[in-house]
Amino acid sequence: MGLLDGKRLLITGVITDASLAFHAAKIAQEQGAEVVLTGYGRMRLVERIAQRLPKPAPVVELDVSDQDQLDSLVERITPHLGDEPRLDGVLHSIGFAPAGALGEGAFLSAEWEDVATTIQVSAFSLKSLAMACKPLMGPGASVVGMDFDNRQAWPAYDWMGVAKSALESVTRYLARDLGRDGIRVNLVAAGPVKTMAAKSIPGFGAFEDVWDQRAPLGWDMGDPVPVAKTVCAVLSDWLPVTTGSMVMADGGVHAVGV
Ligand SMILES: NC(=O)c1ccc[n+]([C@@H]2O[C@H](COP(=O)([O-])OP(=O)(O)OC[C@H]3O[C@@H](n4cnc5c(N)ncnc54)[C@H](O)[C@@H]3O)[C@@H](O)[C@H]2O)c1
Repeated sequence: MGLLDGKRLLITGVITDASLAFHAAKIAQEQGAEVVLTGYGRMRLVERIAQRLPKPAPVVELDVSDQDQLDSLVERITPHLGDEPRLDGVLHSIGFAPAGALGEGAFLSAEWEDVATTIQVSAFSLKSLAMACKPLMGPGASVVGMDFDNRQAWPAYDWMGVAKSALESVTRYLARDLGRDGIRVNLVAAGPVKTMAAKSIPGFGAFEDVWDQRAPLGWDMGDPVPVAKTVCAVLSDWLPVTTGSMVMADGGVHAVGV
C-alpha cells in the first residue's frame, strides 16, 4: 500500500530531471498516485522528461501568468483524470526572476517591471493555480508550494527572496479562504538543491558549504529526494489538519543560529 494510492495529482514545474517537481512526481507515482504534469515554454523537452518517470505522464501546457491558459486548464486536464475527474493534490513548483532582480547588487538597482514579473510568477501564481484547479478539488485536497524560507535576508536571493516572503503570505491567505472547502494549502521550505532555477542565481554557491555545516542533520545539495518525499507527505492524507504552514525540509538549518 502506497502513501498516495489512488490520488490524482497535478504537478507543475518539471523542466529537467533535476527539477524538484520531477522527483516529487516520481516518488508520488511510486507511492500509487496518478500524475498529470504541466509544462511551460519548452514543451518538447518537458514531454521528453515526462517519459523518464516510472509511468510516462501526460503533459499539458501552462504559463501561470497567462489567464487564458489558466481559464482553460480544467478542460485540458480533465481527459487525463479518469471517469470521475477530480484532483486530490496540486504541486506549485514554479519560480522565476529576470536577471535584473537577482544577484549581488540587484536589490538596490532592480526596476519595477522585473520585480513585478518575479512576484507575479513566483507568488501571485499560487493563488492563480489554486483557483484554476478549484473546480476539481474537494474536501481533503492538498495544494503545496515550494519555498526557500525567507524570514531573513540571504546573499544574492534579492527580489526572489521578497517574492518568497509574498508566497509565504499568499499561502496563509489561501489557506484561510479555501479552508471552508476543506482544501489545505501549505509550503515545503527546502534547503538548497542543484536545479536549473538554483544554478541561475548568481551567488548560489555561497550556500554550498554553509548549509551542510550548519544543518543539524547535514545536507546534500545533490540529493533532491528528501525534499520530494516531504512534498509527497504533505500531498498525502497524513497531515489532515495542517494548513497555512511552512513545512521545513532543510536539514534543520532554520532551527540553529550559527
Ligand atoms: N532548488 C532549490 O535550491 C530550491 C530551494 C527551495 C525552493 N525552491 C523552489 O522550488 C521550485 C522549483 O524549482 P527547482 O529548483 O526545481 O528549479 P527548476 O528550474 O527545475 O523549476 C522551476 C520551474 O518553474 C517553471 N516556470 C517558470 N516560469 C513559469 C511560468 N510563467 N509558468 C509556469 N511555470 C514556470 C519552469 O518551467 C521550471 O519548470 C521553485 O519555486 C523554487 O524557488 C528551490
